[in-house]
Amino acid sequence: MPYTVPKLSDFSAPALDAAMRELLSALDQESAAVVSENDWKAFRDRWMARKNGILTQINDLWLKGAPGPSKRDVGQLVNALRLLVEDRVPKARGNFDTFEDVVGHPTLRGSVGEVIALKRKRTAMVASVDITLPGIRRPIGAEHPVIKTMNEIVGVFRNLGYSVEEGPEIETDYYNFEALNFPPNHPARDTQDTLFIAGQESKPLRDRLLLRTHTSPVQIHTMQKMKPPVRVVCPGKVHRNDALDATHSPIFHQVEGLAVDTNITFCDLKGTLDHAMKALFGSSVKTRFYPSFFPFTEPSADVQISCIFCDGKGVRDGAPCRNCKASGWIELLGCGMVDPNVYGFVDYDPARLSGFAFGMGVERIAILKYGVDDIELFFQGDVRFLEQFG
Ligand code: DAH
Repeated sequence: MPYTVPKLSDFSAPALDAAMRELLSALDQESAAVVSENDWKAFRDRWMARKNGILTQINDLWLKGAPGPSKRDVGQLVNALRLLVEDRVPKARGNFDTFEDVVGHPTLRGSVGEVIALKRKRTAMVASVDITLPGIRRPIGAEHPVIKTMNEIVGVFRNLGYSVEEGPEIETDYYNFEALNFPPNHPARDTQDTLFIAGQESKPLRDRLLLRTHTSPVQIHTMQKMKPPVRVVCPGKVHRNDALDATHSPIFHQVEGLAVDTNITFCDLKGTLDHAMKALFGSSVKTRFYPSFFPFTEPSADVQISCIFCDGKGVRDGAPCRNCKASGWIELLGCGMVDPNVYGFVDYDPARLSGFAFGMGVERIAILKYGVDDIELFFQGDVRFLEQFG
């Protein structure tokens, strides 16, 4: 006997419960019996047709017939049943996904079970998604200003024919210091306050691990694996035990450069970096090379650019320029001719080869380019700051 909706005279909780169970078991049986499109249509109409479907009937016979005090309970029950039926009816379509789908499907052919499972899943998803609702809009992200600047720097050198090399952030003392001509206990090590990995004391110094303090060790890795000529830039993250303030962060980024060939001179270094600074800050920018010291270059220099805030005048709006401390120059990066000792560590012939190297801080360049006044902003992940670079 097919299920028919009973007229209720008893609206007590147990009676409602029994009526609900009977209806649900009919729903179960009838949905399981659906095996074709026609079955399904009949099933759908029997339960959901506006005019005389079972949902309409329970509304009429149960809810409308309920006495005042029971109306609330019956209303809740009828609503719950409606949701359930609306969920189950579309799902019953999954019963009769068969052969044509399988045979016609190039990758799933032969796996009837899989296809049916897939279809069921799809039907279930459709049933639970209201396709008339507006979709979820995913906000479009923007490149982080540090990565954007780093890519821009790398791009300038790529255009000059440089390739890109990367190295590990955890280095040995050997690569970070020794092979770059910082001997053990050399005071130049103190300029890079280093974060050492704990528990390394039993190893020889050169094997002890640390967080790289600069990208210069990538020079060594590169020369160990490549024969000259070499022209590379090495972007990456570096770490120092520095307290955070407006211009220092214990984590920051550098781009290292290295060119080694025969007959490379300081003129090549000057021309290359002058070009790069003009490409990054505009063609009116001037550069000057100031004597400096790095263990791995000889001679070494700091590169300064003419102040981009006061056009190198040292004065802005009638007052001393604060950005360059009224000097008209801003110090931006380190560079020099590769020290012949370094070639000794990588088996390059210093009598035949020469080259230059340079290293620049990405955040420092980004701060100048975008007028950012606090390095912390790069690392706080505040969308209001980041979205300005989109
Ligand atoms: N490694 C240096 C630092 O972090 C920067 C540097 C200076 C890199 C001179 C170089 C260079 O390659 O030639 O302070």
